[in-house]
Amino acid sequence: MKYGNAALRGKFVLGPMAAYTDIAFRLLCRRAGAAMCFTEFANAEAIVRSGAARRQTALATITRGGKNTDALLQTCSEEMPVGIQIFGATPEAMGNAASSISARVETGELYASCIDMNFGCPAGSVIRAGAGSALLKSPQKMRAIAEACVKHSGIPVTAKIRAGWKSDSALELALMLQDAGVSGITVHWRTATEGRKRQAGWEMLREVKEALSIPVIGNGGASTPEKAVQFLKETGCDAVMIASAALGNPHIFSQADDLLAHGKCRKTPWEEKRASFAQYAALAQKYGVATPKRFRAHAIEWVSGFNGVKEARKRLNSAKTIREIEGIVSGFEPSNAQSGLA
Ligand SMILES: Cc1cc2nc3c(=O)[nH]c(=O)nc-3n(C[C@H](O)[C@H](O)[C@H](O)COP(=O)(O)O)c2cc1C
Repeated sequence: MKYGNAALRGKFVLGPMAAYTDIAFRLLCRRAGAAMCFTEFANAEAIVRSGAARRQTALATITRGGKNTDALLQTCSEEMPVGIQIFGATPEAMGNAASSISARVETGELYASCIDMNFGCPAGSVIRAGAGSALLKSPQKMRAIAEACVKHSGIPVTAKIRAGWKSDSALELALMLQDAGVSGITVHWRTATEGRKRQAGWEMLREVKEALSIPVIGNGGASTPEKAVQFLKETGCDAVMIASAALGNPHIFSQADDLLAHGKCRKTPWEEKRASFAQYAALAQKYGVATPKRFRAHAIEWVSGFNGVKEARKRLNSAKTIREIEGIVSGFEPSNAQSGLA
């Protein structure tokens, strides 16, 4: 299956997650078998400001819409295929951001196999700005944004949507986006207003997959390797996006691959998880994305599911430095270390 301009070698991809899916975590997931990753979403207007600032100044004095946005967009050749995700409320902002990113991909400053438009984020601040899942309520505006991105981007444009705002309109929205020139679509089968509440219902994606000629990635609730494989089989989607279940457990991708290919997968004992956190730490330092806040958030995910997590979480929450956080994870010795997670 080709998503964007890259052929995917597997069926399970990492979803975009703000504050988590930095370049280090994405590389770890790719090495652990994720067929593709997406950057956390970046504000279209900030991308344009940052691009303009880079052109106009040789000095590294970029602040608002500069340094942080650049860190969000940072991608490398080793992690390809990767989608850069953007969000915004207007065709102008989104089209200009797509143009800026694709120009930077052309010069080799960034790597991306597609530009992914976010039409699913239900966060209050994003909705109030008229972006993310707010656009599910305005299909014509969504269409204009998609057309602007397709027109101004030199690389393929994809979209990530929820099934609708309040009720299911996934099929109409997906067909409309396909018609607007989008070359792939990820559908989270829940609506924006139901958040993560609804436990069952991904089967509805089969109809979307069968009606579209572009690739369809299904998303929502693939919380274990078993569920990810079940999701794939029950919907017929081209791939399944795993988001929250990959936090602290990049091995979920190889586990799901093994389960699909051989009908079984091994659990990940704590020793391997400890080693993968050390790899995350090394990559985060290498690419300059290491901050205590990010480290703490990842570390808490890594220790969860093992005995002693409550105490470890408490210590992690009061740890101030990266070194302290690394020390807590490397010294963590759960009594169920061997039982592992799958
Ligand atoms: C912490 C967190 C941050 C997220 N950030 C983004 C984001 O930046 N862009 C996006 O499209 N979805 C974002 N999502 C939604 C996920 O990509 C995914 O659609 C959702 O979690 C459902 O998949 P799951 O059940 O596998 O977690 C985020 C989810 C979480 C938990």
